[in-house]
Amino acid sequence: MRRSEQEDRPADLDAVDHEDVGRKSHTEVKCDTVCQVNEPLSVSVLTGAGISTDSGIPDFRGPQGVWTKDPQAEANATIDRYLADPEVRRRSWLARVGHPAWTARPNAAHRALVDLEHAGLLRALITQNIDELHQRAGSAPEKVIELHGTMHRAECLSCDLITPMPEVLARVAAGEDDPPCPRCGGIQKANTISFGQSLKPEVLGAALDAARSCQVFVAVGTSLTVHPAAGLCGEALDAGARLVIVNAQPTPYDPFADQVINEPIGQALPVLVQELIDAAR
Ligand SMILES: NC(=O)c1ccc[n+]([C@@H]2O[C@H](COP(=O)([O-])OP(=O)(O)OC[C@H]3O[C@@H](n4cnc5c(N)ncnc54)[C@H](O)[C@@H]3O)[C@@H](O)[C@H]2O)c1
Ligand SMILES: [Zn+2]
Repeated sequence: MRRSEQEDRPADLDAVDHEDVGRKSHTEVKCDTVCQVNEPLSVSVLTGAGISTDSGIPDFRGPQGVWTKDPQAEANATIDRYLADPEVRRRSWLARVGHPAWTARPNAAHRALVDLEHAGLLRALITQNIDELHQRAGSAPEKVIELHGTMHRAECLSCDLITPMPEVLARVAAGEDDPPCPRCGGIQKANTISFGQSLKPEVLGAALDAARSCQVFVAVGTSLTVHPAAGLCGEALDAGARLVIVNAQPTPYDPFADQVINEPIGQALPVLVQELIDAAR
């Protein structure tokens, strides 16, 4: 392994020698690696914000990303800031009311993953997204592992009460700028994982199982910079899976992938899914 690649390796991969992992990089969709897999083909998919940009929901770190345009917003996205600063909470509730996800519709990439599932190839659909567009596209809820939770529910940070988000947003619309928990008066937040919060162990465990028990691991629309989600790529590689990355921008895992597709997801993913389906026939 060249020195520069060694330095670029994500920390999760440091304990493992990935020299035997293919390092082909393609600018067009090809299936020369994934099609060699023995049947039955089992595919786990990890999606990130980039799969939903075609649905009108901006990502965080892409060229038009929320944090690319406003780096200060990233610093405010921690649980400590949320708990400490009522102004951060007020802005967060307004952002939730006006979030583009409420009117967004699934796009061709979400639908392609439904096709993958209907073909019997999908082991699990792990998503970092909180928009529920996979389920709205038709993915079976039991196949979807929401690593970072969902914005469609609110939770009380004191007593853990879960409330449908529309109920809380109705209170915001009625004039409560930081609506407290109806049961205990505690601070409420979307039922999502903020920076500084741990992932739910059972959810992370299910994602690890899915990464370690597939033959092909496809990472779609994620910068692969948020851990532990990004580390699932390393887990899959360690377990012998082939890694395919579909993302416009480079990721830290590109050097370890069998195939890197730097194409628009809405076009590239349906093609890749069809190739996987054809390969499994
Ligand atoms: N839709 C959502 O639910 C949503 C939206 C924004 C952020 N988030 C949250 O923020 C965190 C962000 O991490 P992340 O890695 O998912 O996103 P990210 O913003 O870090 O990276 C998104 C990547 O997708 C790529 N991309 C965007 N649109 C694309 C397209 N049409 N074709 C090809 N590539 C495209 C970008 O180049 C970028 O590298 C996640 O934890 C997630 O929970 C969720
Ligand atoms: Zn409460």
